[in-house]
Amino acid sequence: MPARKETTNRVRTVRRYRSRTATGVVANGEALDFLRQVPSESAAIVFLDPPFNLGKRYSVHEPSLDCRPEQEYQAWLVEVLNESARVLMPGGTLYLYHLPIWSMRVGAILESRLQFRHWVAIAMKNGFVRGQRLYPAHYSLLMFTRGSPAFFCRPKLDPARCRHCGEYIKDYGGYRPIIDANGINLSDIWDDLSPVRHRKHKYRDANELPTALFERIVEISGAAGELYVDPFAGSGSGVLAAVQAKMHFKCCDLLLDNCRIICERLDTRRT
Ligand SMILES: C[S@@+](CC[C@H](N)C(=O)[O-])C[C@H]1O[C@@H](n2cnc3c(N)ncnc32)[C@H](O)[C@@H]1O
Repeated sequence: MPARKETTNRVRTVRRYRSRTATGVVANGEALDFLRQVPSESAAIVFLDPPFNLGKRYSVHEPSLDCRPEQEYQAWLVEVLNESARVLMPGGTLYLYHLPIWSMRVGAILESRLQFRHWVAIAMKNGFVRGQRLYPAHYSLLMFTRGSPAFFCRPKLDPARCRHCGEYIKDYGGYRPIIDANGINLSDIWDDLSPVRHRKHKYRDANELPTALFERIVEISGAAGELYVDPFAGSGSGVLAAVQAKMHFKCCDLLLDNCRIICERLDTRRT
């Protein structure tokens, strides 16, 4: 086991929850420092939705948060992944949500420590064609486990239907009675949910992933009483989904305003 690096005091606890309905910690600070404080082999799920280094302004106070030199960003991301792999329990699952180019770069590095399970394509609308490239139509969600998964549930979905006649869009042939009874197995292409939470339901200006995505992840890889870790928690939809599934949580965000949103949502249970 690699030695734990010395912790810094760049992370502070915003709130600790110890009730029958929610158990966990909301922390404010740098993700890497936060992860270094999480015990080894403790988490059933580590969910990573880091800044993509696209020059987004997450905050007026931190204007350069999302525009680092590429090599510096990669070195930081690899350290985040190494720490995340360390905190995963045997059979735990690490998810990394990112752009395909970064998933390709760091996925190969992750493979030396964890077992590759999936590259899930999360369909996106409103991408832009740039340069001599095809139209980008998905984000990638990498899924790695430490050994064989301790918890795994394959969700069943309702088949897509024609919105005019209500019939199934695909022909399932002889499998139709099984599909009618059980639904279809979730595949590694997720085009039934949007990767962007609708503006109407957002808690802040920056992008938020939809709660349905987190509910799915927790359903696949979570279990009651186990730990969910989210170092880039944003407005906390992942935390809310974990709490709903009776998991404990440890989450962090660099921006105190986001931590306050998470606490407010936990206090009021707003999904
Ligand atoms: C892509 S967003 C995550 C959104 C989140 N999944 C949600 O659904 O709300 C990245 C988040 O990481 C935070 N962040 C950026 N750099 C960070 C860092 N070095 N350490 C911790 N959090 C950071 C940002 O404030 C932002 O909320």
